Amino acid sequence: MKIAVLPGDGIGPEVTAQALKVLDVFVREGMPLEFEQGLIGGCAYDQTGHPLPEATFKLAKEADAILFGAEGGFQYETLPRGLRPGDALLTVRRELQLFANFRPVVAFPELVGASPLKASHIDGLDLVILRELTGDLYFGEPRGVHAENGVQVGINTMRYDEREIRRIAHVAFRTARTRRRRVCSVDKANVLETMELWRSILEEVGREYSDVTLEHLYIDAAAMALLRSPLHFDVIVTGNLFGDILSDEASMLTGSIGMLPSASMGEGTKGLYEPVHGCAPDIAGQDIANPLASILSAAMMLRMSFGESAAADRIERAVRRVLGSGYRTADIAEPGTKQIGTAQMGDLVFAA
Ligand code: NAI
Ligand code: MG
Repeated sequence: MKIAVLPGDGIGPEVTAQALKVLDVFVREGMPLEFEQGLIGGCAYDQTGHPLPEATFKLAKEADAILFGAEGGFQYETLPRGLRPGDALLTVRRELQLFANFRPVVAFPELVGASPLKASHIDGLDLVILRELTGDLYFGEPRGVHAENGVQVGINTMRYDEREIRRIAHVAFRTARTRRRRVCSVDKANVLETMELWRSILEEVGREYSDVTLEHLYIDAAAMALLRSPLHFDVIVTGNLFGDILSDEASMLTGSIGMLPSASMGEGTKGLYEPVHGCAPDIAGQDIANPLASILSAAMMLRMSFGESAAADRIERAVRRVLGSGYRTADIAEPGTKQIGTAQMGDLVFAA
């Protein structure tokens, strides 16, 4: 079980270190986990001139799973496309065809007070956003900025082919079968042709899963419904851009983006696991970032890539126990709780 560890930039290394700390519990018990670190993102650019060095890509390609931290940093935003930190992650997702991004959104009962919503609104919240990850405006051609008659024009193309839609649809319905058997597909089919195709393929695939209820929402209505009645949802399947936005929105239901793990899967068991958040330059290097999203991503890795569900359950229970004892990083702290730092949170989950 070879794991490529790619901590990246900003808070990435800080939170990934806590996930590794927790995984060490299982190494000590004899689970054959092997770790190999690689450079990715801005730090890789600084050291090698490229955000995705050849050695890192090879490591990611050969590993059974990838544990990723975060990439980015405002100092890199003026670099040419292809050399920006984010391009490294997009390349790994695309080249390894990790097209299915699972973003579970669970309200820990211990944390309902940290959500801006009323407890009764989110009590029992347990949904998963399934975001398509290798198509859409992020990759469609043509793209770019050019001049037309002396006027600058920016272009991106929303593109999906039917095969890409079909394969993510199957993942959505199969996932729903392991849960409450409801799929909500989110699109903008009233305005966008790409999404008209999306909706018709979802309908077509849905007929193969008569035991699963399929509904459709437009993205604007879905954004509203997610706040008004979050408990309504089980599996939300959507495209790359809408999934990005909806999952950040959904993170606030749980209290903090620092609580949201994710898994990006292809057709097999190989996956890339990462917190949903970015490299958070505003809090990097201060030992205040919440490492739970990264720790919970490691739990998803044990479950989805290695079939170690019992170990994954133990991590999730340990997180709940630590929260239940009142320990909080700054992002989820409330009056009456005990505020601690990143490393201490890792220590407590390890101990639990
Ligand atoms: P961000 O997710 O890094 O930060 C958004 C806000 O959430 C900030 O206020 C930050 O302090 C807070 N936050 C994030 N993670 C947290 C944690 N674990 N604990 C406590 N608070 C946390 O998104 P932002 O600010 O839009 O982007 C910052 C950089 O990260 C940019 O360079 C961006 O390109 C990159 N980024 C990278 C991603 C990735 O690696 N997959 C995803 C999103 C952004
Ligand atoms: Mg995002």
